[in-house]
Amino acid sequence: MKKNLMTRPMSGLQGSLTVPGDKSISHRSLMLGAISTGVTTISNFLPAADCLSTLTALQAMGTQITRQATTVQVVGRGLHGLTAPSQPLQLGNAGTATRLLAGLLAGQPFDTTLIGDDSLSQRPMARVQQPLQKMGADISLTDGHLPMHIHGRQLHGTTTQMTVASAQVKSALILAALQADAPSTIIETLPTRDHTERLLNAFGASVVTASDQRTITVQPQPHLQGQAVTVPGDMSAAAFFLTAASIVPGSKVTLKRVGLNPTRTGLLTVLQRMGGHVTIEPLTNPGEPLGNITVTAAKLHPVTLTAADIPAVIDELPLVALLAATADGVSTISGAGELRVKETDRIATICTELRKLGIAIEERPDGFVIDGRRT
Ligand code: S3P
Repeated sequence: MKKNLMTRPMSGLQGSLTVPGDKSISHRSLMLGAISTGVTTISNFLPAADCLSTLTALQAMGTQITRQATTVQVVGRGLHGLTAPSQPLQLGNAGTATRLLAGLLAGQPFDTTLIGDDSLSQRPMARVQQPLQKMGADISLTDGHLPMHIHGRQLHGTTTQMTVASAQVKSALILAALQADAPSTIIETLPTRDHTERLLNAFGASVVTASDQRTITVQPQPHLQGQAVTVPGDMSAAAFFLTAASIVPGSKVTLKRVGLNPTRTGLLTVLQRMGGHVTIEPLTNPGEPLGNITVTAAKLHPVTLTAADIPAVIDELPLVALLAATADGVSTISGAGELRVKETDRIATICTELRKLGIAIEERPDGFVIDGRRT
């Protein structure tokens, strides 16, 4: 039977909503809980497949973890209490789990193998293997990819100059440095999300970031103490609604209790630079900063983003492309080559899909150019 469906243009999006918990913080809370002493309680945990891969991997190494919806309890085993898993750890599509666990497991006194799905198995892993090897780690890969075989051993404190702007790589090095025989220094190319540093300090470690925001010193062998962690709403999930509210005329949308860590709020900065209407109401939270964000529709202007702008908006760049498509001029995004090695080649995907919507977008090796006037 044929049915006729009629759509009408919307007059605006109105309302307020909450988004699920932050993915990055959910992964990290589980890991730190497992290597602490005492119980860690995680509220507003994100029970998505990626974070559940971390949860299952930690259980496979002897950690007692119970979950009821978005509340998780982790009974810590201490920094030296994990046990060898009986089989390879299957991490699905979780790049964050894989890279952070590589750093954590490199210093444990047992061997592990990390495996993943087809997509994860094509993503670059030498970026964690090589700097960890300089700390004394014994890690082998197949052509730079999973499976990753980790022969756990004593690591050495070093100074590492990173070569990619990646919070996953930085976090792997920090987790390895906790287990080293001397302090370590990690120098980033650009500041990236600092959830590992903040959480570790809350658990009792000494991880100090210098005033340049990219030199991090980690003291080894701390005693970590389990904590109560409240995970803020995920900025990367809120970003879809903030973008929709900006571009659908007549909209006003409030996103509640969203994480406002400045290393993650690049989309808000970009929106403000484009002339978007963004109001932030900070709320008190003992851990990561969070607050309510209200966006109303606005006429947007083009924006130019370069490498220094990218880390704080790395996962929201597809939405920046949509915003740019409605702007009254040409927007240029460069220095974003990392997008090519995410779950998909996000530069190619953005360009292919947005062209289907009639958007004038040109692909560049490290970004894209969008002419909002021709859309
Ligand atoms: C993440 C860091 C980013 C981000 C990913 C989560 C993290 O990856 O794209 O979704 O939790 O550390 P890179 O470190 O590869 O930039």
